[in-house]
Amino acid sequence: MCGIFGAICEDALSDTLKGLKLLEYRGYDSAGVAIKTQHNQLQLTKRVGRVSNVIAATQGLPKVQFAVGHTRWATHGEVCERNAHPFLSQDGRFALVHNGILDNYIQLREQLTQKGVHFVSDTDSEVAVQLLMTKAPLYDDIKDALTDTARMLHGSFAIAVLDSNTDSLYLLRRGSPLYIGISNSGNYLSSDVNTLRYFCSRVGVLEENAFCELNSKGATQYSIDDGRVLPIHYINVKTKQLDKDSQGDAMLSEIAEIPHALQKTFDYLTTTAICPDKSMANNIRRIYLIGCGTAYHSCLIGAQYIRRFCNVTVEAVLASEWWYSYYKADSNTLVVAVTQSGETADTLNAARECKRQGATVYAVTNVEGSTVTFVADKVILTQADNERAVASTKAYACQVLALTIFALQFAETKGLIASEQVADYKADFYALPRAVGSVLAEGDKDIDRVANKLSQSKAVYFIGRGTDYFTAREGSLKLKEVSYIHSEAYASGELKHGTLAMMEKGVTVVGIACDSEVMSRHKATVSEITSRGADVITVTPYCTPNECDTLVIPIVNAIYYPILSVVPLQLLAYKCAVLRGCDADKPRNLAKSVTVE
Ligand code: AGP
Ligand code: GLU
Repeated sequence: MCGIFGAICEDALSDTLKGLKLLEYRGYDSAGVAIKTQHNQLQLTKRVGRVSNVIAATQGLPKVQFAVGHTRWATHGEVCERNAHPFLSQDGRFALVHNGILDNYIQLREQLTQKGVHFVSDTDSEVAVQLLMTKAPLYDDIKDALTDTARMLHGSFAIAVLDSNTDSLYLLRRGSPLYIGISNSGNYLSSDVNTLRYFCSRVGVLEENAFCELNSKGATQYSIDDGRVLPIHYINVKTKQLDKDSQGDAMLSEIAEIPHALQKTFDYLTTTAICPDKSMANNIRRIYLIGCGTAYHSCLIGAQYIRRFCNVTVEAVLASEWWYSYYKADSNTLVVAVTQSGETADTLNAARECKRQGATVYAVTNVEGSTVTFVADKVILTQADNERAVASTKAYACQVLALTIFALQFAETKGLIASEQVADYKADFYALPRAVGSVLAEGDKDIDRVANKLSQSKAVYFIGRGTDYFTAREGSLKLKEVSYIHSEAYASGELKHGTLAMMEKGVTVVGIACDSEVMSRHKATVSEITSRGADVITVTPYCTPNECDTLVIPIVNAIYYPILSVVPLQLLAYKCAVLRGCDADKPRNLAKSVTVE
């Protein structure tokens, strides 16, 4: 979950700090950097909290050619300076940063302690650097010591090592992503492909179970298993200017980018072959849409549309539950892995398992070159551009759009829906970015009023029927995630089966009611709630009962309501976070991409 960045260039410290700042959304409980000084000594600077604390602490240090840095999302050991990365080997030769979890660290720590090694941290990660220190004297070539170390580590890791004795950085990868970037002005490494775009256009994707030596001349990759040289798969990525995306308040600006992101994604979806061809489509007996968190909510909506239009068995599955729910995939199964970052460990592992069982795997992702793009047989690339806020907003809107268009085109390929009808749905899309734009432009006063109410509520429930229920789930997750207000989502009809007991003064219910056919049911539900003292706010394009407050959204083609009606909920979550003094971009305990299981 953490971010790793390293550089070999004229001013490696400065570039590494810039890289860490861009990566901060990956983990932000503490940060640190290691540099190799002109006298070949390793020097660490670590601070609890944000990268800016490390930047302040390294002011005035001279330029260096080698640096590695880390932003942490703690898994083992409390958040404190001692447990922040990098870690130094006891003899001072190596500095190491790690992303992932080392499952056998307790045994390794015991063995090393018996050999007289003294540990300074409580982390799993430190065993890797102390183990490497004990291996180094056993080999003539440091590369052999590194592969021996890697073979002894169980679990997941992306590791970068700075060696005071050589002019190389060493990288190890198993289960966690790691990329290298090559440019005329320097060579780089990062756990996030997007960050490298700010430094270079040529990006190398390290193989699973690989080891890599990176120096000023380039990179060589080896297999950890047998030491053989592995070719590096390079991709060309679109470069970006530093500081465009690195300023604050990302969540709000990303919500504001939704109209543009939707339009770009729609243009891509309608000019790219995103669906199986006819013969493959007719062979597919079952579709699983898999994802986590917000991406899973888009799967729920996608599954509803595929069920509605495509006459095929379809299910949305939480990727983290794949292993515990007796699902089976085979050669007649299509699996669509939905992941904004393309790096979520639960989603990747489930997708790999489905492939192993013979399924065809498609990926819906927002990050070109991310790990899922190498796992999948086909990639559908949402065009939301870099999403930095931990809470997904614009990427979610584009995922839902991608799955909606996928369902329509899949049904068309199978001959289940007339091409004219699909063309009508597509023509109706053009009103959607404008409708989102008008929620953004005109909703402010109403949303402020409702946010005031929510931020003082003791609990908030989100309810809806059909796809509105899935939007309710997403609205609830968003509110919890950034404002820490207790919130749950229910299918409206479920309230009376238990949760109605919670309705009383001080509780607020947000109802989503975009389907005209369920409006009369919604009105009855509102009565049941308000007569017990709780407040109701309805998000709808229609007239609502007198006793509830309303957030009105424009009328669009009904299949696009899940994309439109979530926008006021995203704004509500953001505004509640601000009212309660929370950092909406970097909520406590979370990180943008969850690269550990
Ligand atoms: C979204 O607001 C959350 N931060 C989270 O639920 C996220 O959607 C989930 O972790 C999946 O991420 P992914 O799309 O990058 O796989
Ligand atoms: N397991 C390591 C730790 O707790 C690394 C966590 C991470 O990936 O940020 O420090």
